[in-house]
Amino acid sequence: MSDAPVAVVTGAGRGIGRAIAERLVRDGWRVALVDRDGAALDEVRRLADGSADVAAFVADVGDEASVARLADAVRATFGGVRALVNNAGIGGTGTPLEELTLDAWNEMLRVDLTSLFLVCRAFAPDLKADGAGRVVNLGSISARTGVAGSAAYTAAKGGVEAFSRSLAREWAPHRVTVNVVAPGVIDTDMARRRGLDHQRALIPWHRIGRPDDVAGAVAYLVSPEAEFMTGQVLHLNGGAAM
Ligand SMILES: NC(=O)c1ccc[n+]([C@@H]2O[C@H](COP(=O)([O-])OP(=O)(O)OC[C@H]3O[C@@H](n4cnc5c(N)ncnc54)[C@H](O)[C@@H]3O)[C@@H](O)[C@H]2O)c1
Repeated sequence: MSDAPVAVVTGAGRGIGRAIAERLVRDGWRVALVDRDGAALDEVRRLADGSADVAAFVADVGDEASVARLADAVRATFGGVRALVNNAGIGGTGTPLEELTLDAWNEMLRVDLTSLFLVCRAFAPDLKADGAGRVVNLGSISARTGVAGSAAYTAAKGGVEAFSRSLAREWAPHRVTVNVVAPGVIDTDMARRRGLDHQRALIPWHRIGRPDDVAGAVAYLVSPEAEFMTGQVLHLNGGAAM
């Protein structure tokens, strides 16, 4: 196994998380792939062709005990962790507020917001260890624009931004940067469920985003070049919000 820095990427089984993981492997990172969907992880893991620099971990990032087991397992496999990419999430459901159940609201906040608290807390010692730690959290354009039928999702993503700014201040003395990448519509299973065609017309760049667009931004934020950037929200949306 190499001594390259280690990145943990959650939600790496498909979509944006998978593209981020593949990009970081290409950039020379060792990568811990995390997802609650073990079958999807196996498929991504196969692409790494048996490399000891990539390992897969099944975990539910919104569950405290599961995250504690994850942190132990990642440390046992790789030692320390330099970068954490909190990408796992569930999408908006298009449910009118009056029909939204408390269970659905709580589940959205658990997976899309509480998970950041749990995972950042679990890996805090690792991230602070070498004075070059990096956290990148996935937000969404929708936290800025609002989306009818997605109050729980947009509330969670607004929380992701506020959480990240506070943590950026808290961990700046430890030289850990904390930033948000906030994509517009990106072509993944999550976005396809809501339909892509009607969204293209709203984007000045006139195309739907690609997972690789997001992966490029994350690759920059975890790199040494981004050392002076913290507490920021990087928007990638083809100009859909300016
Ligand atoms: N696709 C878009 O248009 C878009 C736009 C803005 C923001 N985002 C955000 O980007 C991130 C990735 O989205 P995507 O489009 O790739 O989604 P996706 O549904 O295609 O993939 C999400 C992955 O996260 C995993 N996951 C979900 N809940 C989990 C949990 N509790 N524990 C562990 N893994 C879990 C899923 O199994 C899946 O593999 C999300 O945070 C999403 O909110 C996506």
